Amino acid sequence: MPVMKDENLLVGTEFPDDAAVYRLNENLALIQTVDFFPPVVDDPYYYGQIAAVNALSDVYAMGGRPLTAMNIVCFPCRKLGTEILVEILKGGARKVIEAGALLVGGHTINDDEPKYGLAVTGVVSPDEIFTKGGAEPGDQLILTKPLGSGIITTALKGGIAPEHPLEEMIHWMTTLNKGAAEVARTVGVKTCTDITGFGLLGHIEEMIRGSGVDAVINVHSVPKVEGTLALAEEGVVPGGAKANRDFLRDKLVFAAEMDEVLMDVLCDPQTSGGLLMAVKKERAPEAIRLLKIKRLAHAAVIGEITPGGKGQLVLK
Ligand code: CO
Ligand code: CO
Ligand code: CO
Repeated sequence: MPVMKDENLLVGTEFPDDAAVYRLNENLALIQTVDFFPPVVDDPYYYGQIAAVNALSDVYAMGGRPLTAMNIVCFPCRKLGTEILVEILKGGARKVIEAGALLVGGHTINDDEPKYGLAVTGVVSPDEIFTKGGAEPGDQLILTKPLGSGIITTALKGGIAPEHPLEEMIHWMTTLNKGAAEVARTVGVKTCTDITGFGLLGHIEEMIRGSGVDAVINVHSVPKVEGTLALAEEGVVPGGAKANRDFLRDKLVFAAEMDEVLMDVLCDPQTSGGLLMAVKKERAPEAIRLLKIKRLAHAAVIGEITPGGKGQLVLK
């Protein structure tokens, strides 16, 4: 993709970030993002919710407020009928409304495999943008949702997902990152991203590369949906987890003996994952307390930014 430059393009394609940001005037910048994917769960109403929450998430990860959203739909209308599509769209609309945004249109094409998502437009004050850069040594890394969606939805596709982890995972995948972003703003966060396809470690790597720092991760403090490790132990791991891990090979430093299964979970590609934010050390306890009030029960400090700048990720 060509790299476009403009004095008002505050966040473009030069360095990977969650969404594009374009300054309209001194006080206002536009956030634009688009995301869509095939079904990850069987229930069309939940699938619609998950796809919408995932698309809205990139606006929250930039520190913004979503204003409008448009549906992007690929659907085999003749094969599946419109009833299922109506449920998907209802699910998506519900989450757009919960986000306080407006659903203002969309586009549908015929396709053999259903796909759904949103193009979202939001706003942010230019001096309040969260990016993947700017993390400083001493900052605490906080993760707001537990991991497990790639592994659990892979188990679902194989028809072997136990009911409990699946229900809990759907709860987290349908939870907006709105509350988490509000807490981030309250505690003065500048550096933030959401956890999606590159897995937890992949997204931490982007953050430390963008900030010119290193990080230490306490792998045992990373929250996981209960039952995720057991599934990974049985070998239920999506291909993306291995690809993520291969990509990180030269960047990981093992300061302790590392369980292979736990590594699969840390690299598991997430759908509609939580926010990862770098919080000043003295404000981290307040952040955790506020996140729990927002019902993000598993929010936890999972590591710390360290000086160095070689983009090393030390796991202990
Ligand atoms: Co993102
Ligand atoms: Co995205
Ligand atoms: Co059209």
